Amino acid sequence: MDVLQRALSCPKAELHVHIEGTLEPELAFALAQRNNIDFPHASIEDLRAAYDFSDLQSFLDLYYACADVLRTEQDFSDLMLAYLRRAREDNVIHAEIFFDPQTHTARGIAFETVLKGLEAGAAIAKAEWGMSTRLILCFLRHLSEEDAFAALEDALPFIERIHGFGLDSSERGHPPSKFERVFARCRELGRPVVAHAGEEGPPAYIVEALDLLKVSRIDHGVRAIEDVALTQRLAREQVALTVCPLSNIRLCVFKEMQLHSLPKMITAGLCVTLNSDDPAYFGGYLGNNIRAVQGAFNFDLATWRTLLRNSFTAAFVNPAQKEDWLAQVDAHMLD
Ligand code: HPA
Ligand code: ZN
Repeated sequence: MDVLQRALSCPKAELHVHIEGTLEPELAFALAQRNNIDFPHASIEDLRAAYDFSDLQSFLDLYYACADVLRTEQDFSDLMLAYLRRAREDNVIHAEIFFDPQTHTARGIAFETVLKGLEAGAAIAKAEWGMSTRLILCFLRHLSEEDAFAALEDALPFIERIHGFGLDSSERGHPPSKFERVFARCRELGRPVVAHAGEEGPPAYIVEALDLLKVSRIDHGVRAIEDVALTQRLAREQVALTVCPLSNIRLCVFKEMQLHSLPKMITAGLCVTLNSDDPAYFGGYLGNNIRAVQGAFNFDLATWRTLLRNSFTAAFVNPAQKEDWLAQVDAHMLD
């Protein structure tokens, strides 16, 4: 089996995927019809043609608009199950999934509707295929601290079912420091926290996420490499970075895959994981990201073993579970 096939067929975890970003045009149209929504796109092809982004904000505008078709518990369950079914084809056995409750509560959808729906889809994937999932609640950073506290308040009755907290949406002009107090409260609740940083924003935002938010992982972090001291720190502390290669190309963070900072990050000894981010919008699920990376960089078997091991090392699960999964990676990736 060649290196690519070995990487594709290996059991793996996905740690950076937004459930709203897994909404395929086909499902969006089906849900619009089911919910009697006048969807502002003429056809599936018309919607797909709109997936031509110039930066993060141009994507987010469409991403939030499409989320409007998600109304009922059944919708969220269908969305979750469709993602997990597709992820399983890439041999994902564990997924830590972001959701954006503020996108939905702002439209009058109850937090409980969102959570119960997502959990119902995940329960089917667990029962049918043994897939493991975690839910990470993301605060929208373009909204205020007060709004984030209100979202946290909505989540409190269900805190046992929320496995972590994150920070996403428009990065530029919305530094992690804006949410220092919210994240302190999340940590007091005993939950790990993560944040998108250094995707479009400067390396200084990664430093803030580490020092002020005290994150366990950095989402994206591909601009870390611009700062030598930060890169050395990330390597020393082995902070995991959830890199999403196709996302970075589609949102013009890098012009083409050959120019991506991924090889430099790996050479610098950073704990890098590969992920799909918003696979319905960015041209591919985790397997496609792996194919695109291998097409550009032709990594050897040892590098792929490290990348795939990192996906489990950085996961929010207990040590015994981690060891079991790491042994599965080794059995698959070692001759
Ligand atoms: N960056 C920030 N926010 C997001 C993203 C992203 O790549 N995807 C969905 N929300
Ligand atoms: Zn993301």
